[in-house]
Amino acid sequence: MTGLAFGGNKSRKLDYILKYALDNGYTTLLTYGGVQTNHGRMTIAAASKCGLKSILMCYGDKPDEATGNLTLNRILGAEIVFMDVSKARALPPGEAQGKAYVETRIRATDAIVKKYEAQGDKVLIIPIGGHNVLGTVGYIEAVKEVMVQMQEQNIDAKYLVSGYGSTGTFAGLWLGAKYYNAPFEVIGVPVSPIYSSAEECAGFINKVSEELEMGIECMPEDLRIEEGPEGDKYAGIGYNVPDEKTREAIYTLARAEGIITDPCYTGKTFRGFLEMVKNDIIPAG
Ligand SMILES: Cc1ncc(COP(=O)(O)O)c(C=O)c1O
Repeated sequence: MTGLAFGGNKSRKLDYILKYALDNGYTTLLTYGGVQTNHGRMTIAAASKCGLKSILMCYGDKPDEATGNLTLNRILGAEIVFMDVSKARALPPGEAQGKAYVETRIRATDAIVKKYEAQGDKVLIIPIGGHNVLGTVGYIEAVKEVMVQMQEQNIDAKYLVSGYGSTGTFAGLWLGAKYYNAPFEVIGVPVSPIYSSAEECAGFINKVSEELEMGIECMPEDLRIEEGPEGDKYAGIGYNVPDEKTREAIYTLARAEGIITDPCYTGKTFRGFLEMVKNDIIPAG
């Protein structure tokens, strides 16, 4: 509902990233994601809208048939590169696997950037999820809007529950809540059973705060990340793997409010929210 090829949560981040790209003479945006990345689709749409070229680097094989976001990305006119991550995928989760992913990404990026630069393009590399300082500003500022809407609609919310993926959305909301003195606590629900730690997120928050001279310091224990009970985490069994409980949560919201959530991010976050209310982790009423 935020424009940009069916919208999503990245338009607020892209607002600031695109302004930077246009002000600094970039002709091409390059970003990363899974084959069905929402962030990739929105970045490509934003590039098209601003007259820029776009490159999407996908972690994964080219599927036999293009579906979903991949079809939209083709329509929007992006160059799509499928990175061969089979070696990294074969390793157990951990440091070596992380390193293998990074090496694949750097090699593939260097090759395509060289190709574009040789034809006179200037390529802006945007991290996965738009996870940088500029992108985070979008969610710091979102808090201001939420507070105005709460006042206008007389809403007394004590919690704001957000999906926790590449973490910039949560980080921005947390910083915004502190900066603007919001009446609510921000809770992050990881959308993957393996996720960025509170230490990593606090480090990122401090970096943003420092660069923007916000004067806010964050300790890992200041962050409220609710993953759910062991063995039954809100994220289910894997990133972007739909499960029965997420599906139930999606049906509940759709049938109560006519609002459609997705099984990768918003559905899992909403599942977490419902279970937190049910188990009195978030007091109801
Ligand atoms: C709809 C939606 N919600 C939440 C998120 C998570 O945001 P972040 O990656 O900033 O943690 C994403 C990420 O792509 C998303 O697409």
